[in-house]
Amino acid sequence: MSRYWSKVVDGLTPYVPGEQPKLPNLVKLNTNECPYGPSPQALAALRAEVGDTLRLYPDPNSEGLAASIAAFYQLKPAQVFVANGSDELLAHAFLALLKHDEPVLFPDITYSFYPVYCGLYGIEYRQVPLTESFEIRIDDYLTPNGGIIFPNPNAPTGRPLALAEIERLLRANAGSAVVIDEAYVDFGAESAVGLIDRYPQLLVVHTLSKSRALAGLRVGYALGDAALIEALRRVKDSFNSYPLDRCAQAGAAAAIEDRAHFEQICAKVIASRSRLASDLAELGFDVLPSAANFVFARHSRHGGAELAAGLRQRGIIVRHFSNPPRIAPFLRITVGTDAQCAALITALRAILA
Ligand SMILES: Cc1ncc(COP(=O)(O)O)c(C=O)c1O
Repeated sequence: MSRYWSKVVDGLTPYVPGEQPKLPNLVKLNTNECPYGPSPQALAALRAEVGDTLRLYPDPNSEGLAASIAAFYQLKPAQVFVANGSDELLAHAFLALLKHDEPVLFPDITYSFYPVYCGLYGIEYRQVPLTESFEIRIDDYLTPNGGIIFPNPNAPTGRPLALAEIERLLRANAGSAVVIDEAYVDFGAESAVGLIDRYPQLLVVHTLSKSRALAGLRVGYALGDAALIEALRRVKDSFNSYPLDRCAQAGAAAAIEDRAHFEQICAKVIASRSRLASDLAELGFDVLPSAANFVFARHSRHGGAELAAGLRQRGIIVRHFSNPPRIAPFLRITVGTDAQCAALITALRAILA
């Protein structure tokens, strides 16, 4: 606190990102990064961009990258917006599309950045409880609202929602924007991208941080009707005209174009996830069905905080949330390589013994 702070800053409760420890040799299963490296073609494109042209500002609208993304999804470039990580994109979406007189709706257990954006931009919100089994129930969203946002699959539960349910929501909710945050969709959920041409209120948000193994590059993109994209662009150009540097634009475009590498990464993570889930179940964990690159699991006899601390002592970090209390018994565990998952299971076996 300082006398120089604005009222807005004084009232903020910022998001707390997962730890990025400096210690070497930790098994890092806490921030849902990809355990495999990025596309070699992306790395080559990044390197090729390091040179004299760095004197010059990058393309403010990342048109080459937007064209690659549009081609991947068979959309028009005007239906694509790119940003410096999907976090930045989500921030723009809250201001551009979700700030209205009625409150924006999102689940009570979800990506904890959403209420932070509301705090930053002074947006009213209402948190809609998940069901007993930690599912999003669309009927609970069929009320007057200033917009709706949730991840599919949801985070940190990993539970997917069927596309038919999202379409039911879109049919019933034409009057406000519906933002589906598909950060983890490539690991097994159904994408809503195919609905974009029929529902002008739908914005689908993706990231290169998970299924393209490029969390360090900071690239996210949104897909939707050109009018929604224009709204995001108006916010971007009132905030930072050049959110993606030249290297990020080149590397991201090459990553999108390397479909084989992307598909291989996703297949490996999905296979490891099912082994990890069954190994955890054998140790007495209740594991929620996950379509993401992480699992959300609780043990019948041991608390989440206790298990997270025990794992940390053994050089393994996972994510534990003490709030809301309903999820305090859970650990959110990123699906690592098979060797990392095996190390986790060995450590848990020792802790539970
Ligand atoms: C649901 C969800 N959305 C968005 C993001 C942000 O991803 P990024 O800013 O790396 O693109 C995350 C990050 O973990 C997430 O869990």
